[in-house]
Amino acid sequence: MTKILDGSGLVLGTCYYPEHWPESMWKEDLERMLESGIQVVRIAEFAWSKVEPTEGNFTYEFFDRFLDLAEEVGMKVIFCTPTATPPAWLTEKYPEALNADINGQLYRHGARRHYNYNSPAYQRLSAVITEKFAEHYAGRKCIIGWQLDNELNCEMNEFYSESDTAAFRVFLQEKYSTLDALNQAWGTAFWNQTYTDWNEIFVPRKTVSNSVNPHQVLDYTRFISASCRRYAKMQSDIIRKYLKPGDFITTNGMFSNLDNHAMNEESLDFYMYDSYPNFAYCLDAYRDDPKDLKDRKWSRNLAEVRSISPSFGIMEQQSGANGWNTRMEAPTPRPGQLTLWTMQSIAHGADYVSYFRWRTCTMGTEIYWHGILDYSSRENRRIREVRDVHQKLQQMKDVAGAVYEAKVGIVKDYDNIWDAQLDVWHQRVDSASMKALFAAAQRTNTPVDFVYLREKTKPEDLKKYQVLFYPHATIMTKERAALLQEYVADGGTLVVGCRSGYKDLTGKCVMDKLPGLLSELTGTDIPEYSFIAPDAGRVTADWNGTELEASVFTDLLEAAGANAKLEATYTSDYYAGSGALVSNECGKGKAYYYGSAWNEASARIFLEKLGVMSPYADIVETPESCEIAVRSKGERRFLFVLNYDKAPAEILLKKECLNLYTQEKISGKVKLEGYGTLVVEI
Ligand code: GAL
Repeated sequence: MTKILDGSGLVLGTCYYPEHWPESMWKEDLERMLESGIQVVRIAEFAWSKVEPTEGNFTYEFFDRFLDLAEEVGMKVIFCTPTATPPAWLTEKYPEALNADINGQLYRHGARRHYNYNSPAYQRLSAVITEKFAEHYAGRKCIIGWQLDNELNCEMNEFYSESDTAAFRVFLQEKYSTLDALNQAWGTAFWNQTYTDWNEIFVPRKTVSNSVNPHQVLDYTRFISASCRRYAKMQSDIIRKYLKPGDFITTNGMFSNLDNHAMNEESLDFYMYDSYPNFAYCLDAYRDDPKDLKDRKWSRNLAEVRSISPSFGIMEQQSGANGWNTRMEAPTPRPGQLTLWTMQSIAHGADYVSYFRWRTCTMGTEIYWHGILDYSSRENRRIREVRDVHQKLQQMKDVAGAVYEAKVGIVKDYDNIWDAQLDVWHQRVDSASMKALFAAAQRTNTPVDFVYLREKTKPEDLKKYQVLFYPHATIMTKERAALLQEYVADGGTLVVGCRSGYKDLTGKCVMDKLPGLLSELTGTDIPEYSFIAPDAGRVTADWNGTELEASVFTDLLEAAGANAKLEATYTSDYYAGSGALVSNECGKGKAYYYGSAWNEASARIFLEKLGVMSPYADIVETPESCEIAVRSKGERRFLFVLNYDKAPAEILLKKECLNLYTQEKISGKVKLEGYGTLVVEI
């Protein structure tokens, strides 16, 4: 029996829509998939009406026939709940199930994700269809697992229906108990927003200058996340009652305004990601800029997914051109890119990769979103590449279950992510630094993980990282400060950037000396700070003879405390002479406060000076166009080299390694084709 993510092998799948094709094609399709190395299909995520064509009338034959066939030919199935697209009869009869825009205008039937999570009618009908699906199909031999809904919070991650306002009030009552506490938390004394009755509170609405209370919006974002999680859990709890032993529950993501980590823990056995690196080549997003990492940026998403779910799969992996009939046009992947992007997913930890989709749809919005096959099903280059990927995966089975290695962590937390979504100062420093740190790590072959600080995070979770960057910990809590303190005291190196520690959990600014709760740990005092003015030119600092270029913002620092040391000083404008970087020894480790945001050059300098850059330099040398990743399992270590450039790349293997694709020993100079990949055991 094909199981996925059980450490026994690397498995390929595809997304199939039996409802899109004449039944007479099913068998040939399934057999051709199997012959191409595809062992699993995902089905049914948009097919509610096939089972409940009118309210309360259930008919299971359609998928029964498909599952019979799957069992006959030996295909495994991931079955989905169909709630991403409620039927027309439902939204017509229960318009309260529809989501609305910020002006209260309803989103109508015809696209997808037009529902809201909080409508009692939609919750009830979703529970019924989930129960019916699970009750009827979960026992089927060919089913190996379940997907909840499809891409929760994709396309639509804000909800303004009447049901949402009603549920928001309940959420706030549970959180604050009294209106006094809410008024305090939201700072409603400002601009006379004081609430005297719960019914005066709404989800954000249209206001003058769109200046919605930021503390309200922060809670509203938490509310959206909680609503989505509750909806997922409702489905998961139902399916679990019927799940065959060994089967799993998952969903595919990853989207914003959602605590994916919490959802994964509460409702899923593991998480799946939908990886579409070809977005980098979309006509409206393409940047002809050698500095832009393009499809390599998907490695950042994959690292995020790994933080949610150390063991994960790819439910939808790019296999053809992008395109809705209205937008998102990107070209057909070039020869080698399908393999490259598959190996990118595997290098980052995926042991299951399922291509979107088997055949390109001939109708509807997604006629240009190509699958493996074109409309005609004729043999093509992409299916040949899938077969070749399968051959390669057969040779590298042992990689399954191996863990991605990283000594550097980039720390995040949902409070700060959501604060940065609505606060322009926070957003600007955060997006600059995240981009820079990731790019510097990518181009120096320095693997990084993302590390989310959560209530349950323990010092042991941080200990494995030699260096942690927490770029702009704007919102800080006593608990998180204590956790970081413990990490540093135990020998870790922590680096925080400007604008840290100046807000509390409500998003309000603190009146302590900055950086607030991080003052003691970082040994830093910040008497003054400023945005870098447009006419300031290059703002630089000197770090023991190395020039750092400040970016976006400057906190002017002083070292404060017995173990604190001024490491770098600004050298330009009126900041000249003020501190730009402070270090503070604390127990066995060190904390640094950098008074700016990072650009790629300064991020590289930090990686180098902190001794964590290029940890595999003694094993392999590559040009900058290549990413490397290492997955390890016990004593065994597997090195991936991925060439993102269309030109060939020459790499140097400094020791003899086993080429897993060919099972030959190789060393010295090795040529990778344009978009070529290599996996060796080191
Ligand atoms: C994904 C989605 C698929 C399909 C694909 C191409 O986001 O889950 O159903 O729509 O994009 O647009």
